[in-house]
Amino acid sequence: MKIAVFASGNGSNFQALVEYFRKQNRTDTFEWLFCDQPNAFVLHRAQKLSVPYSAFSPREFPSKKKYEEKILNILAEKEIDLIVLAGYMRIIGPVLLDAYETRIINIHPSLLPKFPGLHGIRDAFEAKVNQTGVTIHYVDKGVDTGPIIYQEAVSITKEDTLESLEAKIHQTEHQAYPKVIEKVIEKMKKVEEQKND
Ligand code: GRF
Repeated sequence: MKIAVFASGNGSNFQALVEYFRKQNRTDTFEWLFCDQPNAFVLHRAQKLSVPYSAFSPREFPSKKKYEEKILNILAEKEIDLIVLAGYMRIIGPVLLDAYETRIINIHPSLLPKFPGLHGIRDAFEAKVNQTGVTIHYVDKGVDTGPIIYQEAVSITKEDTLESLEAKIHQTEHQAYPKVIEKVIEKMKKVEEQKND
């Protein structure tokens, strides 16, 4: 299975995914990192991990459609089977959604449908709830609305600060995301096998 990761910033989930898959000696490979922010830290991680990457912004294109068509061309060239979003801060448009229906997965730092959007961790912290968590889901045309694959709760204690909560969430993400992606891939392979029977 050939995997592409889309990210916009730090890239700690990207690194966790690549390292886990390599440690398991899986034949699935991370063929490409795409980043929409040409100065993002995730690009250093890609370099260190020797994962080929591209970075370009939608601002370089006349429309979102053209931007996504460029991404789609590269995905096709690299024969990517699965897109894993890891902190990609843009809504996936119809060009990519149509081409990769049910093959785009996202991770969100809250127990969806609670606290969708850009600030899932902060919104939960400020709402003073006593638990939040992590959701891994298929991507559809909404914002953080696609079918849920996996959720894991993280408690918020009285001692927690926003920073300590962020650290707990990220730790949970780094452990859960690679394993869930591994399961998704197994499922995709089974479906393929059944088709070929
Ligand atoms: C993660 O919290 C993820 O849930 C959200 O964006 C953050 C990305 O962090 N979608 P990183 O770039 O992987 O460190």
